[in-house]
Amino acid sequence: MNHEKVTLTGIKPTGSPHLGNYLGAIAPALELAQNFQAYYFIADYHALTTLHDRERLRRSVYSVAATFLALGLDPAKAVFYRQSDVPEIFELAWILSCFTPKGFMNRAHAYKDKVARNMQEGVDPDAGVNMGLFSYPNLMNADILLFGAQVVPVGKDQKQHVEFARDVALRFNKHYGKECFVIPEPIIREETDVITGLDGRKMSKSYDNTIEIFLPSKKLRKVVNSIVTNSQAVEEPKSTQDCNVYAIYRHFATEEQKVAINERYAQGGMGWGDAKKALFELLEQHFGSAREKYDALMAHPAEVEVVLQEGAKRARIVATQRLNAVKDAIGLKF
Ligand code: ADP
Ligand code: TRP
Repeated sequence: MNHEKVTLTGIKPTGSPHLGNYLGAIAPALELAQNFQAYYFIADYHALTTLHDRERLRRSVYSVAATFLALGLDPAKAVFYRQSDVPEIFELAWILSCFTPKGFMNRAHAYKDKVARNMQEGVDPDAGVNMGLFSYPNLMNADILLFGAQVVPVGKDQKQHVEFARDVALRFNKHYGKECFVIPEPIIREETDVITGLDGRKMSKSYDNTIEIFLPSKKLRKVVNSIVTNSQAVEEPKSTQDCNVYAIYRHFATEEQKVAINERYAQGGMGWGDAKKALFELLEQHFGSAREKYDALMAHPAEVEVVLQEGAKRARIVATQRLNAVKDAIGLKF
C-alpha cells in the first residue's frame, strides 16, 4: 500500500468474462497495479439491474473473481472486494444522488439507448427500465469517489460514466469548499477500445458473439471455428484487414507473429481453417496455465470467498474514513 495514487475498476458479474473484457478492462487494470494502489471490485449490485437469476448471479460473481485471481491479481497488494460487501458505497450513492442533476441520468447511454429502442418498437419509452438501471451511473460515482480513485481504466463505453463522477465530485467539493473527493480520470486504451466478436460487431454478451477467456480447450476450438469469415477459397490471397480472425489475433501476437501471418494471408494457400487454428493456438498459449488456476478456484468457491471477505474488510476501512469526512462536510457528523 505504498503507492500514493489510486486506480480502481469494477467488473459487472453478468456472465463469464470474455476477450473484450480482458483486453478492454481486465488486462489494463491489472497492469496499473504496478504503479498505483489498485482497487478491483465485482460490481454485483450493478449486475442486479439486469440479472435477476439467482444461480447465474452467484456463478458470475465467482467467475469474475476467479478470473482476476487466475490472471495474476495479488490480493495481498491490491484491494479486491465485492461491491455489496461494502455498505458505505450505497450510503454515499444516496448522498451523491442529491447532488446529481436528473438530466445526467436521462443522458446516460445505457438508459438512453433503451428508451430509443422502446420508441422504435412503439412501446412505452420506459418499458423494462427499473430505477436501478436508470440511476446506474450514480452508484458508479459512489464506487469511484469513495476510494479516492485518480485513474479509472475502462472501455470506451464507460467514459461518460467516469465523466459524471468527475462532475459530481467537482460540484460537491465546490459547494462545501472542501476537497472531499479526488477528481477521477478515465483511461482508455485506444488500441483495445473496441474488440470485435465472432461476427465482427463489438464483442459483447448482449450480442452473443463472445469468446470467454477460460473456455475449456475443446469448446474454445469450436467457438474460434465459428468466427465469421468471407467465402474466399484456400488458394486466394487474403487480407488481414476486415478479417474477424486477425482482429483478435493481433492483440495476442508478437510483432514477428503478426508479420508472419500477414505474409501467409497475402501469399494465398492459407484457408480460414488455418487462420483459426493459429488463433486457437495463440489463445491456448496465452491462457492455458491461467485456465488451470481458474478451474481450481471455481472448484473451491469458499477459498475465493475468503479472499473477497478479507478485501472487503480492507476496503471498508478506507470507505468509512471518506464517508465520515463527507458526512462531516454536509453537516451530519460532529
Ligand atoms: P458486455 O458488453 O459483454 O456486457 P460489460 O459491459 O460487462 O461487457 O463490460 C465490462 C468491461 O469490459 C467494461 O470496461 C467495458 O468497456 C469492457 N468491454 C466490454 N466489451 C468490450 C469490447 N468488445 N472491447 C473493449 N472493451 C470491452
Ligand atoms: N459499469 C461498469 C461496466 O459496465 C462496471 C463498473 C461499476 C465500474 N462500477 C465501476 C467500472 C467503477 C469502473 C469504475 O463495465
